[in-house]
Amino acid sequence: MRLGILISGRGSNFLAIADAIAAGKLAAEIAVVISNRADAAGITAARARGLNAIVLASKGTSREEHESDIAKTLADAKVDMVVLAGYMRLLGTRLLEDFAGRIVNIHPSLLPAFPGLNAQGQALAYGVKVTGCTVHFVTAGLDEGPIIVQRTVPVLAGDTEESLSARILEQEHIAYPEALHLIATGRVRIDGRRVVIG
Ligand code: GRF
Repeated sequence: MRLGILISGRGSNFLAIADAIAAGKLAAEIAVVISNRADAAGITAARARGLNAIVLASKGTSREEHESDIAKTLADAKVDMVVLAGYMRLLGTRLLEDFAGRIVNIHPSLLPAFPGLNAQGQALAYGVKVTGCTVHFVTAGLDEGPIIVQRTVPVLAGDTEESLSARILEQEHIAYPEALHLIATGRVRIDGRRVVIG
């Protein structure tokens, strides 16, 4: 399974995926890493690992142009699965159509709770006692697609957004490689809203 990883920043989920591949825990290869920001730390890390790392700046281009650049780059790299890893832009119809059922995302909450920005802050503000992360297929609705894997963490007294985010991130780094491995080994089937793991 050839992965096309889209990032905008730090890229720690991308690195967890790369590490899982290197450790033989994820049967996949990284065909390309694309960032919409030239200053993304993840793109520097991708280059340091000798990966095909490409910046496609979103600033100053229309959404259509930007999406078509991404679609071309993914096709050139013969990508099977698009992995959104902290990619901070909504996808438009072009990518959703070209890669229908083949785009995944990770979100730092137990969806459908707290979709959108700053899910960790939303969880703290609401006062939930448990939160976590969700790996899901991407559909047109924000953070709405069928759920592949979720992992939970407790919310502790005295938690700040930083401490809670760090606890969730540790679980993200386990959940994303795990979900991708399930897909890569043919164990994932989408049945309406549900993902059946075989
Ligand atoms: C993660 O919290 C992820 O759940 C969210 O954006 C953050 C990306 O972090 N979608 P990183 O760039 O992978 O370190």
